[in-house]
Amino acid sequence: MEERRAEPHDGNTDGVSRRDFLRTIGVGTLEAAVLSAAPLPSEGAPAHTGDLVPLVLTVNGRRNALEVEPRWTLLYVLREKLGLTGAKPGCERGECGACTVLIDGKPRYSCLTLALEADGHEITTVEGLMQGEKLGQVQEAFVQEDAFQCGFCTPGQVISAEGLLRKTPHPGVAEIRHGMSGNLCRCGAYDHIVKAVQHASEIRK
Ligand code: FES
Ligand code: FES
Repeated sequence: MEERRAEPHDGNTDGVSRRDFLRTIGVGTLEAAVLSAAPLPSEGAPAHTGDLVPLVLTVNGRRNALEVEPRWTLLYVLREKLGLTGAKPGCERGECGACTVLIDGKPRYSCLTLALEADGHEITTVEGLMQGEKLGQVQEAFVQEDAFQCGFCTPGQVISAEGLLRKTPHPGVAEIRHGMSGNLCRCGAYDHIVKAVQHASEIRK
């Protein structure tokens, strides 16, 4: 699985911009879906319109034996087949980040990832950050910093923050804004989101 997540243009050592991401990876994945005879699935769409193939998907440490259509996205399978509705269908075309999950610890858009591409990889959804019945550290930091309004983008923001802190445990403000730039918030809670990531970093010390 080679897809990269959208990164801002400036200061990125990998040199991958959102536009690059869409052009090189997202579009490739979308092509795979678009080129299939049936339309992309979405919530409420007919569940089965093609051949099913076996897939074992490891999500939040649990192996799930499934049968999926090759065109199904990871987002669709997580929500509709595994009942994990934390990842949200926002734009479903790689623009908003509401669908973000961790794949092998790195934030990825699940709407641009085919379920079959996730075979053999470790997937973490926002549900997997819970500590039993308690919120995880990043989730708790978002609550304490009041880092959301409507909350629709929040699961994706939390997952991206988790991915950022795994890679950079103590990021500066610029690094936080850079690392979170693949997640949009239509409520404009960005300043509080930055504070929440800083708070989570402090908690983790
Ligand atoms: S729903 Fe995947 S990026 Fe918007
Ligand atoms: S809190 Fe509403 S979209 Fe971010």
